[in-house]
Amino acid sequence: MAATQFTHEQLDAYWMPFTANRQFKADPRMVVAAEGVHLIDHTGRRVLDGVSGLWCCGAGHNRPEIVAAVQTQLKTLDYAPAFQFGHPGAFELANRIRSIVPGALDYVFFANSGSECVETALKMARAYWRLRGQPGKTRLIGRARGYHGVNFGGLAVGGIANNRKLFGQSVESDHLSHTLLPQNTFCRGLPQQGRHLAEQLNELIALHDASTIAAVIVEPVVGSGGVIPPPVGYLQQLRQICSANDILLIFDEVISGLGRCGALTAAERFDVQPDILTLAKQLTNGAVPMGAVVASRDIYQTFMDAGGADYQLEFPHGYTYSGHPVASAAALAALEILVTEALPQRVVAMSPHFEEALHQLRGSPHVVDIRNYGFAGALHLAPCPGEPARRPFDVALRMWEKGFYVRCGADTIQLGLPFVMATAQIDSLLAALGETLVELA
Ligand SMILES: Cc1ncc(COP(=O)(O)O)c(C=O)c1O
Repeated sequence: MAATQFTHEQLDAYWMPFTANRQFKADPRMVVAAEGVHLIDHTGRRVLDGVSGLWCCGAGHNRPEIVAAVQTQLKTLDYAPAFQFGHPGAFELANRIRSIVPGALDYVFFANSGSECVETALKMARAYWRLRGQPGKTRLIGRARGYHGVNFGGLAVGGIANNRKLFGQSVESDHLSHTLLPQNTFCRGLPQQGRHLAEQLNELIALHDASTIAAVIVEPVVGSGGVIPPPVGYLQQLRQICSANDILLIFDEVISGLGRCGALTAAERFDVQPDILTLAKQLTNGAVPMGAVVASRDIYQTFMDAGGADYQLEFPHGYTYSGHPVASAAALAALEILVTEALPQRVVAMSPHFEEALHQLRGSPHVVDIRNYGFAGALHLAPCPGEPARRPFDVALRMWEKGFYVRCGADTIQLGLPFVMATAQIDSLLAALGETLVELA
């Protein structure tokens, strides 16, 4: 392709995901390389990456350790059949993941994306109750503004109307309210108000009866729905209600896991134990697609005990690329970096600075709320009349022109800083954001 110009023929065939295709093809933003905390575009410009790719490259782009691990793996074993055969890397990685997640989350099932993790977790939950002799427990409960990927189960429990409305009927589900309360606007970190919202689960139990409910799924800190940290005590309260009613609690940690919240998992950070936990994105530092669903010992044992003769499948589910050798090698290298460089601890140390700089934007044009936790933050912008997504889109485009990448999602601008970002880079990103809001006022 030419360095700076793309023709209609070059751009036409690719139907881009979650992208305004017509706008992009009229004004392409092509990323051709990356280095550390920068993306490099087709004109050679260095753009500061304020979202870690898509919340996945926390250790910085193109880490040589991951490159080397992938190269070595590709030369040794490119692929091994995932069904009825194994390779050592996937077992090593499962043990590694077991060692970094809290409590009795001991069994790791591999997928290739966050969406696949969610489908896997939801199927696991339904099957678990069937195997335990309660086949009526099938209903799944999510939460408004929650994002659990784009497949039918994840869409059903997801709470972003725009992602759902085109696609018709999906899986039996219901939703808790989101936890955004007017009294919590501009609060820093976890809001003090809102624990009571977890009590809505009791109302859904009263409505549907616990005998019909398999699981509740939430992101401990909502990510792409606009960075919504949980109210103090809220997750504990959900855990308590789930336990009291024999309902599984699933934490979708595709964004909150592996460093972003200042710990290896949000479950650890908030000291709340889910029954199933999903990881993806940061698992390979974005280098190779991979996801992991980590289940409790009780869930795994239930499947094994009900498995029948030893040649029979205990869980008829999986993907051609589950535990792929190259992804496993990338993940082992990425986890090594995360742990040896103490990146979650760095997030804890640096997040007060990020918080302070982000909240300096209070009072900027159209900013109606600011939220943050760890290295995730969002500006909530007042909608243009009838066009709620217009303003964040314009802000993100203008930022790109200035050499900064931020994410727009519905009525928010979202930041997911690389864990290795320097203080001066954080400051320049937020200064540019402040300027942009003024320019576009
Ligand atoms: C919490 C959560 N779950 C699931 C997903 C879906 O992940 P993927 O895009 O890899 O399918 C995402 C993606 O942003 C996510 O944030």
